[in-house]
Amino acid sequence: MNILLTGGAGFIGSHTCVELLNSGYGVVIADDLSNSKIQVIDRIEEITGKRPVFYKIDVSDKPALDVVFKENDIDAVVHFAGYKAVGESCTKPLKYYRNNLDTTLTLLELMEKYDVNSFIFSSSATVYGADAPVPYTEGMQTGGCTNPYGWTKYMIEQILKDASAANEKLSVVLLRYFNPIGAHSSGKIGEDPSGIPNNLLPYITQVASGKLSELGVFGNDYETHDGTGVRDYIHVCDLADGHVLSVKYAAEHKGVQEINLGTGVGYSVLDVVNAFEQANDIKIPYAIKPRRDGDLPEYYADASKALKLLGWSAKRDLKAMCRDSWNWQKNNPNGYEY
Ligand code: UD1
Repeated sequence: MNILLTGGAGFIGSHTCVELLNSGYGVVIADDLSNSKIQVIDRIEEITGKRPVFYKIDVSDKPALDVVFKENDIDAVVHFAGYKAVGESCTKPLKYYRNNLDTTLTLLELMEKYDVNSFIFSSSATVYGADAPVPYTEGMQTGGCTNPYGWTKYMIEQILKDASAANEKLSVVLLRYFNPIGAHSSGKIGEDPSGIPNNLLPYITQVASGKLSELGVFGNDYETHDGTGVRDYIHVCDLADGHVLSVKYAAEHKGVQEINLGTGVGYSVLDVVNAFEQANDIKIPYAIKPRRDGDLPEYYADASKALKLLGWSAKRDLKAMCRDSWNWQKNNPNGYEY
């Protein structure tokens, strides 16, 4: 089976590519490299001994994407391509709506043309919005998102539900990610943010390497066990395994399934700092800063549906996530730019 990964050169896409290749699937990547590097393809080959087919294209460029479908016998699509910076989505909302929605619509039109009927979507726990009680379960209402990035995920979920309702052949899995961190244990692929990182783990690893002087902890007055924000961190390789199982599931079922991919356990910012220090024997200096706009105090997954439907649960603990994140950063101080 051949799987098309849009955005397959990115953080989650590249790890999923490795797991798909290791599981015997053929992989075709379509990525415009706007937030990723071409070197990742060599690294994937170094890890797996196999090279994915690669197209440098914008997925919303319909003639270019048509060529990908024409030249490859695609059986399923995993759609990672999309802008994902929460803060930027607030200052450039149209850029986010245009890109994230257009890529999805173009893909769906071409999937219909080429009779490809399995669609796995990179959604996010952000679709549960600001007022949802924890743990988040898939049956809960979605909406009330706190930023345009989150709304694009919400809207794409709706587009996919409508497309599936109108086409009984279509199978859709909406994977709602919690907070992916970690890296492949080889240290050859990992998260490579451009500029100063927005997210917690890349920031911590750059403090550990001395690139940044200290971590700012955004608020210590939340109603959580130590006052800092609580999230459900999940190892990116566990997340990748969830995609492989979803591809299999989509091939065997029709209709739409929303599935949380999280561990079911919440850790605070300071829990993560402590785990990182212990796993790697490196001190992370930090200072308490004001709360960050739009942050929620606490959320984590009810991960039971993934176990029931896919037979999936997270295997790697927080220590492994911190160790692998650091192993990647240490071996690649400048990311893929060596
Ligand atoms: C956000 C998005 C989520 C997206 C994820 C990864 C929302 C509401 N959340 O999650 O959808 O999947 O980014 O792109 O849209 N923190 C610090 N200092 C820092 C950085 C973070 O204290 O320098 C804290 C935050 O306040 C938060 C936790 O660490 O409590 C995690 O933050 P982050 O890694 O940015 O992810 P989220 O905001 O949870």
